[in-house]
Amino acid sequence: MTRCLVDGRPAESVPADDRGLLYGDALFETIAFHDSRAPLWPLHWQRLKRGSDLLGIEVPEQSMLLADCRRLAPPGCAVIVRVSLTRGSGGRAYFPDPARPARRIVQVRDWPVDLDRQRREGLVVITASTTLATGSMLAGLKHANRLEQVLAAQECAAADADEAMVFDNQGALVEAIAANLIVEFGTRAVIPLSDSGVAGVGLAWLEARSDIELERARVTRADLDSASGIMVINSVAGIRPVRQLDGRRLDVTDRCRAWQRLWSHHLS
Ligand SMILES: Cc1ncc(COP(=O)(O)O)c(C=O)c1O
Repeated sequence: MTRCLVDGRPAESVPADDRGLLYGDALFETIAFHDSRAPLWPLHWQRLKRGSDLLGIEVPEQSMLLADCRRLAPPGCAVIVRVSLTRGSGGRAYFPDPARPARRIVQVRDWPVDLDRQRREGLVVITASTTLATGSMLAGLKHANRLEQVLAAQECAAADADEAMVFDNQGALVEAIAANLIVEFGTRAVIPLSDSGVAGVGLAWLEARSDIELERARVTRADLDSASGIMVINSVAGIRPVRQLDGRRLDVTDRCRAWQRLWSHHLS
């Protein structure tokens, strides 16, 4: 069974001079497909377009990219499809060759077996000591330079945790390793305010709903001590509650359960 397409053809590898490999000169999207459908596709596509406009990497036809994804996401199953769009090969070190075409890589992964349990029971989370730089013009984009996340993931694994809270270098909470966050303080549901991190499409979907009230505010580590609940959100895993943060137990709130139901009704 085909697990990877490069420029629309089954392949196992890309050339060693691919600029995505050499410089992280690439963008990517990780997309949930249920029964060949991806309800969040338009938001993934918009973010990919935004990134490609900034970086000057040519995007393929939307219909062609979606057709690649559907080849790897057959009817009747749930899978995760990763789309990577690299600047392709060529150029002189950092200087790209504008005449060389971009390269599209589409890969499929099995649906994670422990996701349902994590949604139900929640996550064990630590505070990462790895911090994110602020003020990057790449903030919000899903580009392929993800070394800070790799550092935080190593901390998380060493602590045998499921996820980590990641702050920026000014002490503001940004996100989890591979997800955005909503911090609950009683009646308030707060998206941490920072100019780093990835603008997640899962969070964007929730925020756009008129029946959901969210505010954006700066959240510090000290603020988390008075949080009544924390939700970890990304477009694939949906909404997972935090059940333990640095050893402190947290309840799963009614709001979290209600938003989880909304998610599974519309997006699964
Ligand atoms: C660093 C980071 N932040 C946030 C997210 C959430 O993004 P999305 O909701 O688009 O999946 C991800 C997703 O993988 C991520 O890697």
